[in-house]
Amino acid sequence: MVSPKLNRFTSPAHAAKVLQDGQVVAFPTETVYGLGADARSDKAVARIYEAKDRPSFNPLIIHVADVAMAETLADFTPAARGLTPLWPGPLSMVLPLRSDAGLSTLALAGQPSVAIRIPAHPMAQALLQAFGGPLAAPSANPSGRISPTTADHVEHLSGRIAGVLDGGPATVGLESTILDLRDRPRLLRAGGVALEDIETLVGPIDISTDAAPIAPGMLASHYAPQGAVRLNATSAGPGETLLGFGDIAGDLTLSATGDLTEAAANLFARLHELDTLGVAQIAVAPIPNHGLGRAINDRLRRAAAPRS
Ligand code: TXA
Ligand code: MG
Repeated sequence: MVSPKLNRFTSPAHAAKVLQDGQVVAFPTETVYGLGADARSDKAVARIYEAKDRPSFNPLIIHVADVAMAETLADFTPAARGLTPLWPGPLSMVLPLRSDAGLSTLALAGQPSVAIRIPAHPMAQALLQAFGGPLAAPSANPSGRISPTTADHVEHLSGRIAGVLDGGPATVGLESTILDLRDRPRLLRAGGVALEDIETLVGPIDISTDAAPIAPGMLASHYAPQGAVRLNATSAGPGETLLGFGDIAGDLTLSATGDLTEAAANLFARLHELDTLGVAQIAVAPIPNHGLGRAINDRLRRAAAPRS
């Protein structure tokens, strides 16, 4: 990697001051790096959309330090209560917005609901505590591209944001699971918490809307590397670079031992590597569709989808 041009904050407290000033800061979470700003300020949130080149109709996930802060923003349904043991962690709950939440309507894209998440990463926790309020934060990638799992992946934002807090590589490596819990629980995006673990706590989840383009970021082509992607490949075709899993070794691998948690953590970093290598044709080994494999396959399908 080239020597960093993007400012690296030395402490969460320093980054929190910059956020209080209405600036945008990239910060680590256990899923992916986020692009944070004060969720109560339309002006600060506008700077996120600016930095990200994101269509402004996308609502943003609101990050808070604890359940007490979450309760000031949304009405908790029984299913949401049942899932709070998964917080802090890679789960976002879509809930009815409280009228006195005080959130930027731009952050919510004018919707009467709010997606809330309590990240587990110690540096994200320290930042939220020091900031003392909610942070709106999408993943810190340009719209439609691979999500960042290291501080280096955020370098492209140099000159567009105030800086990044470096918390090392993201351990989960996939975005949070998003559930709509306003009514009958529905899966909006497969992610860092396996569906099985959610159903253990609250029973069956409606998965029919998973992969339907309700939430942007659920658009068909998304998380795409530069190269073309072919799925379920057992070997590389001519001119292809094979991304392996388990027994299918590949030129590089998501997990040599066939471990889905490790594969999730490696997914975006490997796609970034393939971009850096300038690979034009990527073949990917089959990934079992259970546990975190569901979210991995979801991201891979989007990476392989026709580009507009
Ligand atoms: O792991 C994550 O969730 C990361 C880290 C930074 O927390 N964030 C993330 O944010 O992936 P983003 O903006 O890239 O994806 C958020 C998704 C979008 O698809 C958005 O449309 C959806 O959440 N979303 C946000 N608020 C929503 C709402 N009120 N109703 C339905 N979908 C919502
Ligand atoms: Mg994203």
